[in-house]
Amino acid sequence: MNGDAVRPNLTFRPEEEPGTGTPYARYVHLDILHSLQQPRSKVPAEYSFIVATQVMELLFDLLRHEWTAAQQALREDDLTGALAALRRGTHVQDVLVSSWDLLATMTPAEFNAFREVLGEASGFQSAEFLRLEFMLGNKSEKMLRMYQEDPAAQADLATALAAPSLYDDALALLDRHGIAAPHEPSATRHQSDPAVEQAWRAVYTDPERADLARLGEALLDTAERVTRWRQRHYAAVKRTMGAKPGTGGSSGLTWLKQAADQDVFPELWAVRNEL
Ligand code: HEM
Repeated sequence: MNGDAVRPNLTFRPEEEPGTGTPYARYVHLDILHSLQQPRSKVPAEYSFIVATQVMELLFDLLRHEWTAAQQALREDDLTGALAALRRGTHVQDVLVSSWDLLATMTPAEFNAFREVLGEASGFQSAEFLRLEFMLGNKSEKMLRMYQEDPAAQADLATALAAPSLYDDALALLDRHGIAAPHEPSATRHQSDPAVEQAWRAVYTDPERADLARLGEALLDTAERVTRWRQRHYAAVKRTMGAKPGTGGSSGLTWLKQAADQDVFPELWAVRNEL
């Protein structure tokens, strides 16, 4: 039985903190949020481009929180906690992937109409995205050069470069749980390693290690969604600017394809050849 529906309040208790607007507006800082979309042209498509970019930046940050929580749980041997954080992360990734829909209809004419206002700006310069790359093990010290003018971002990235990646923490947990995974965290890009592939083979072929296999599958869910995001980015670029060079100075499509073709957590994919 439904009770009588009561409408929410239309007047509010006086707030203690300063500011104007409804309690909702104050809580989410709507005035600041809605002041951040500042197109440099009068082209309507630029507004969608800015919103899509800002939405994705926020989601990159949320994903970092989930992956950080997963790493912390792995370090504490809390497999349940790690799986829960990775699962939350995959939902964030799903939203990230579908965020490309915001740009799905942009034509080359619409993009060309505002492209020059971007100058040298490119998502390639996103520090949040690069941080996620480092957490995945796709590390590169030379990328830090981009942030010479932003010491806080540079220091944050230098810390992430030196820290173990999410994958490093997963492999360390395998090792502590009796699956020899000889592997040292490194500040360079993770390369496919036969010893690591052997560790995953041991996990997947032993029914007693179903708990660790679940971790492998959760990491694979994560990896697959990273690639899905790259593939949708590639398709958006192909559709809006074809094979022209990028504003960030790359060859554009060919460079993006190379990144999209690289497997994340490569041993988890390679081991499937033998299972
Ligand atoms: C249709 C719109 C877009 C086009 C045409 C485009 C184009 C490009 C191109 C050509 C590159 C290669 C680097 C360069 O030379 O600039 C790139 C990289 C990148 N873009 Fe976009 N982009 C678009 C939308 C976005 C959006 C909305 C985001 C969200 C933040 C984004 C994030 C990135 C990132 C993170 C990279 C680096 C990719 C990697 O390292 O694998 N892009 N983009």
